[in-house]
Amino acid sequence: MRYASVTDRLAGLGGAKWAVHMRAVELQRAGRDVIFLTIGEPDVPTPDALRTATECALRAGRTGYSNGRGEPGLLDALAARYTARLGIPITPERFLCFPGTQTALYAVLTGIAEADCEVLVGDPMYATYEGVIRAGGATPIPVPLRPEHGFRLQPDDLAARLSPRTRAVLLNTPHNPTGAILRRPELEAILSLARAHDLWIISDEVYQDLTHGPTPFISPLALPGAAERVVVCSSISKSHAAAGFRSGWCLGPEAFCDRLLPLAETMLFGNQPFIADMTEAALRAPNMVAAAMRTRLARRADLLARRLDGTAGLRIHRPEAGMFALLDVSGCGLDGTSFAEALLDQQGVAVMPGASFGAALADWVRIALTVDDAVLDAAAERIASHAAALRRTRRPALARPAG
Ligand SMILES: Cc1ncc(COP(=O)(O)O)c(C=O)c1O
Repeated sequence: MRYASVTDRLAGLGGAKWAVHMRAVELQRAGRDVIFLTIGEPDVPTPDALRTATECALRAGRTGYSNGRGEPGLLDALAARYTARLGIPITPERFLCFPGTQTALYAVLTGIAEADCEVLVGDPMYATYEGVIRAGGATPIPVPLRPEHGFRLQPDDLAARLSPRTRAVLLNTPHNPTGAILRRPELEAILSLARAHDLWIISDEVYQDLTHGPTPFISPLALPGAAERVVVCSSISKSHAAAGFRSGWCLGPEAFCDRLLPLAETMLFGNQPFIADMTEAALRAPNMVAAAMRTRLARRADLLARRLDGTAGLRIHRPEAGMFALLDVSGCGLDGTSFAEALLDQQGVAVMPGASFGAALADWVRIALTVDDAVLDAAAERIASHAAALRRTRRPALARPAG
């Protein structure tokens, strides 16, 4: 049978990235004691109040068709939230609701970029970005995020990769997997490049509520002159521990939303009213889940830094936000993938090889901060022993003079 070329463009994007995780699942099924530090699910269940809001909406019969933009109550709640956070008036007409940030990104990129377009995106990047860019036929152009700049995208690096085909810049702040938050001068310079070259800026802000360092989150949409070209995508997946509800949105210029509406309707024929009601309740109430999560994530990031930074050649990159820390394993004489494979085999700890997120992290692994402190402490102990053993066995090779 014949297939559309989109299936070729997306073939092979998923599997290999998750090889260590999948093998860890098999080992655990076979009875092995495995600590999983691979996936970043919120570490608490969806709050009772939100589950109750969903039940009430279901019982109230909120199970019919919605419309392509989203339920009016939710659109109003989103407008109120962003007006308060950005300090500029944001109207409900500037939103479209989607089942999660992922679908919002897919629709937004489909509406903006196509074959012969290039989309600039930081490398490393979240695992699905290559797919959402390639699906519509556009080409991702990786822009290296360097540890010496705190893994923050540098405007000069962006400028060096501009071409007449560049259509958009895909930002992720706070960033997965590095936990970096873009600073105001960086955002200003990126916006000024976007204005000079007539580019869209798509900003994935799904970790906005999970900052846990001193650096404040700033959306590029908050900058003067941003409104006509910045599209924010986000959801309640992380902020409210509600990933399974699949409730997100995009926020862009009104004309952009009008233009995207037929695409959203073609994809979805509207969202679920009972989920919209729950999301509205989530956005209107103070967010205690995120506040507590921030405290735990900060504590665990500190724990890892204390246990591993400088131990047996390891180096921790302390995140400013989000659910992950990065560990540089190059001092052990292995790349991140080999380190992660051997760590699973020898110590029963599953981490993500940095290479799963892009070539720039070939020497790193990503560690999820979403397990209990005691479990993370035990994992840190095993990681430190693993690194120390590697250093012992590989020291002669590491010490060999060049040539
Ligand atoms: C950077 C980033 N964007 C988007 C998503 C997907 O979010 P959602 O559940 O809202 O689709 C994730 C999930 O891990 C993520 O890390």
